[in-house]
Amino acid sequence: MSSFQVRPPSRPLTGRVTVPPDKSITHRAIIISAISRGKTRLKKFAVNNDCLATLEALKRLGVRITARRPSIVIHGRGLRGLESAAGAICVNESGTTMRILSGVLAGQYFPTTLVAAKSLSRRPMLRVLAPLRMMGAKIDSKRDAKIIEEYPPITVSGGNLKAITYKLPVASAQVKSAILLAGLYSHGITRIVEPLKTRDHTERMLKLFKAKIKIKANAVSIEGGEELSSPAVIDIPGDISSAAFFILAASILPGSCLTIKSVGLNPTRMGAVRVLKRMGADIRIKKSKTTAAYGYEPSGDITVKASVLKGTKVNRQEMPSLIDEIPLLMVAASSCQGKTLFEGVEELRVKETDRINSMVNNLNKMGAKIRIKQENTKVDIVVTGSKLLAGAKVSSFGDHRTAMSMIIAGLKARGRTVIDDIDCINKSFPGFLKLLKSLKQ
Ligand code: S3P
Repeated sequence: MSSFQVRPPSRPLTGRVTVPPDKSITHRAIIISAISRGKTRLKKFAVNNDCLATLEALKRLGVRITARRPSIVIHGRGLRGLESAAGAICVNESGTTMRILSGVLAGQYFPTTLVAAKSLSRRPMLRVLAPLRMMGAKIDSKRDAKIIEEYPPITVSGGNLKAITYKLPVASAQVKSAILLAGLYSHGITRIVEPLKTRDHTERMLKLFKAKIKIKANAVSIEGGEELSSPAVIDIPGDISSAAFFILAASILPGSCLTIKSVGLNPTRMGAVRVLKRMGADIRIKKSKTTAAYGYEPSGDITVKASVLKGTKVNRQEMPSLIDEIPLLMVAASSCQGKTLFEGVEELRVKETDRINSMVNNLNKMGAKIRIKQENTKVDIVVTGSKLLAGAKVSSFGDHRTAMSMIIAGLKARGRTVIDDIDCINKSFPGFLKLLKSLKQ
């Protein structure tokens, strides 16, 4: 386990950077290419532990994948062409692989067991297993009868699925995606209604593969039984969740001016940028012209100049569009003037770690003032900013986004900040430290 020391840089962050391709889109591109007809070349893709878990899982299901870095070619097998894996498939710590892939497995006439590494084995799965069972899949899992929850490993035996109309109890793009993919294998039209709109990468990707999918406000419907056809080439824009670390760093380090090139600008993922702008960040966006390979997702360049941030209110309705950026926004809120209210952050309890506890614990050590307001299952957080955080020994709790958020906090703190166990960063952004170091030199 490696630890990392960070101090404020001696000079502002300037220049142009690119961040790795989007992790969420990469998962979908791999899975949907694998079950479509034809070959699909991903011009580049997110090479991180989570996406590699998806790639390996599909190889185990009989999909041929050839690599010519930075591209890979996925030789699609059509909706019914996957093969039974010999033995269980381990998805390591990738919750997205486990949840989204279970939708595809629900449509297969053979059983598959998905096992997880330590932290994912503690994450809830019932939210995805319940609708798949309603569609007709048989799924075994590890159950906790006391709190009515289910965990990995899961064994999915699918086959004859029927279309359902499902109102999601929690806003979750992973659950929506699993149901949509299972809907491809179902007789009739599957309809999903979301309480709040979540990231729509699956819908966009399915459209690109010519699925019969319709979207109306928070409702999505898909017609089953139709083969998908490959668009031949897909390009994946930079990950806005990875860009967010550099957007905040450039905002809070005086004199900085940084451009992040070719990054995804999907409105369902832009919540953190909208919040930072409300806090006073100087962020300019230049949208790129859409090309055939990129056209399914908006993308462009983001330029950030340092500015003085102030507190704001982050509404419950905004949560899905910034769910992965809350740890980082808590850093922004801790190191600016005024109070920031984060409303309805309870989903953070079931991420890679309980991110409320991990971030509050860490930021308190650095002198931030944070209050957690819990009412039944609803959780709000109030952060009172302090102009200068103090360097401290903090922990990643084995969570990539906590680790990277705390490194950004350390850039703005007095003295030295030490973050333990930063290997977890490889889950989403293996080149994070290298990129940061290149900017600090
Ligand atoms: C993801 C959806 C979100 C997000 C996760 C990736 C996806 O999870 O937190 O990092 O790619 O669909 P939920 O669906 O659980 O909200």
